[in-house]
Amino acid sequence: MSLPSFTATGAFISMAVSALPKVTRTGRYLYQEDGTRFYIKGIAYQEQGTVTSNDPTGFPEPTDYVDPLADANGCNRDLPYLKQLGVNTIRVYSVNSALNHDSCMQALSEAGIYVILDLALLVNGSIDRASPTWTSNLLDLYIGTIHAFSKYDNVLAYNVGNEVVTAPAESVSAPFIKAAVRDVKAYLKSKGSSALVSYSSTDGADAALADYLACDTDASSIDLYGLNVYRWCGDGSISNYNGIISDFQNYPIPAYFSEFGCIKSPPRLWTEVAALFGKQMVNEWSGGVAFSYFPAAEGYGMVTISSDGSSVTTSDDFTRLQTQYTAVSFINSPSRGTARGNTQAKCPAKTAFLASTTLPRTPVNDVCECMEKNAFSCVFSNTSSNNTAPILGELLNYACSQLDAVGGSCLHITADGATGSYGPFSVCSPATKVSYAFSQYYQRSGRQAASCDFSGNATVIHTAPTDADAADYAIISCAHAFPVGIKVPTDPTPTSPSTKGGATQTGSSNNNVPKNNGAAGFVDARGALITMAASIIGLAGGMFVLV
Ligand SMILES: *[C@@H]1O[C@H](CO)[C@@H](O)[C@H](O)[C@H]1NC(C)=O
Ligand SMILES: *[C@@H]1O[C@H](CO)[C@@H](O)[C@H](O)[C@H]1NC(C)=O
Ligand SMILES: *[C@@H]1O[C@H](CO)[C@@H](O)[C@H](O)[C@H]1NC(C)=O
Ligand SMILES: *[C@@H]1O[C@H](CO)[C@@H](O)[C@H](O)[C@H]1NC(C)=O
Repeated sequence: MSLPSFTATGAFISMAVSALPKVTRTGRYLYQEDGTRFYIKGIAYQEQGTVTSNDPTGFPEPTDYVDPLADANGCNRDLPYLKQLGVNTIRVYSVNSALNHDSCMQALSEAGIYVILDLALLVNGSIDRASPTWTSNLLDLYIGTIHAFSKYDNVLAYNVGNEVVTAPAESVSAPFIKAAVRDVKAYLKSKGSSALVSYSSTDGADAALADYLACDTDASSIDLYGLNVYRWCGDGSISNYNGIISDFQNYPIPAYFSEFGCIKSPPRLWTEVAALFGKQMVNEWSGGVAFSYFPAAEGYGMVTISSDGSSVTTSDDFTRLQTQYTAVSFINSPSRGTARGNTQAKCPAKTAFLASTTLPRTPVNDVCECMEKNAFSCVFSNTSSNNTAPILGELLNYACSQLDAVGGSCLHITADGATGSYGPFSVCSPATKVSYAFSQYYQRSGRQAASCDFSGNATVIHTAPTDADAADYAIISCAHAFPVGIKVPTDPTPTSPSTKGGATQTGSSNNNVPKNNGAAGFVDARGALITMAASIIGLAGGMFVLV
């Protein structure tokens, strides 16, 4: 198996025997090309990564991941079980675009299985709810993944985020999610791709979030709303779903359960499957993804894999889900002809929902590169550390507070999703923002060697502007040279093939995180742990309140 080459796009398509029918949306439902209504009957398919956290109270949040679609042997091993289960979709949370996915994607396609692919990665590859921005490094990551998967016929949807907003106060992250949707959609459109763009929400995060993500223009709206739902425990009843059925009665786009499968009243009977695909729910919901194929913390897994990775043992959970999934017969209504056309939701009133409807610019790196070249005098040097994400957050907080103290500010690199004010350089990567703060501080404190140290994390650039006014002028000039706007992202620059041969990559996200909204008392330790990690990375709230 060779590494993918960016020039080989399309090679796979010609190899494919027959393409899976395209799934598109009309109004609030999904349809196949022949007009048959499409339902997602899926399972989450991502092995849990290495857990290094030793926080005794926290959910063991993985710090790396195994790309399941780059593991040809694993896919071959699992495919008979996926077929046995009767799924038509898998949800995959983390992939490495530098690896080759041809074998798995082709095998899945031949088995009639679509993929819902999350674009975020762990730790520094997702929109950080503690300090939300939509930055050039994230855009590059997302576009790189889409580019690598654009040759496959069975990507049903690209998911731009999972559980970024977990509480009403975090709705200030929503403009960045919507900006990601806008930019990903523009890119897909430019490639002629009909893949859907989706978001997966925590159940109970904020009712208005669903409306917000589907409001205003089609260009900035998701095509598919995912809700991670763990309300039906044991032998529950349709009343467990009362609230969410009524909430989605007038929702303008398709919605599905992007995770389901409560483990709180074992054994899992999966009786919610009949409800989800039955008459009482199909007006509002288009199926769901059971969590999870692979073993997952807290008992969500449905199979075990032998230690040599060669064989699969299914659990009773698996068998019961198979029974329920096999019994489903899709209700083919309404017909596409009678489905109401694509309409937009009204954006939620600002009083109830904190997010501004003003979105940040497309985070193309040109404005950042201009500033790096022309205005930086003291930059972040990362030679001493290989775990830069938390260090960058810490350094940024510190440098901005130092800068504040000498009369400067980090306003130019700050994004505020509540007011809709976005500094011209708030789209830059975390490392560039740190260098901005270092440089500003260094300039304003008289270019003393000691002002460009930051415990050994900073390096002086000798070709830089020699005074603060010249640096400020260069910064303003860059902001003017690359005005705020919406742009169609371009293809990633071809890179030399990755030397990382294995499927295990270090990365991170808000991913692999089933969210429980069941009875009170369940500590969503995963959420807590992520939030904790995020706030280390993030900027302390008050830091950027400039007077
Ligand atoms: C995350 O951090 C790693 C290690 O510093 C880096 O290689 C990677 O590019 C970063 N990812 C993003 C999306 O910034
Ligand atoms: C760290 O340094 C390496 C090598 O100089 C560079 O490729 C990488 O982009 C840097 N990462 C960050 C986050 O600055
Ligand atoms: C990162 O740092 C740790 C501890 O210093 C070291 O063991 C590890 O090999 C380093 N990893 C890389 C990729 O440099
Ligand atoms: C860089 O900054 C981090 C975080 O403040 C600190 O732990 C580290 O000691 C600094 N210096 C070096 C050389 O990494």
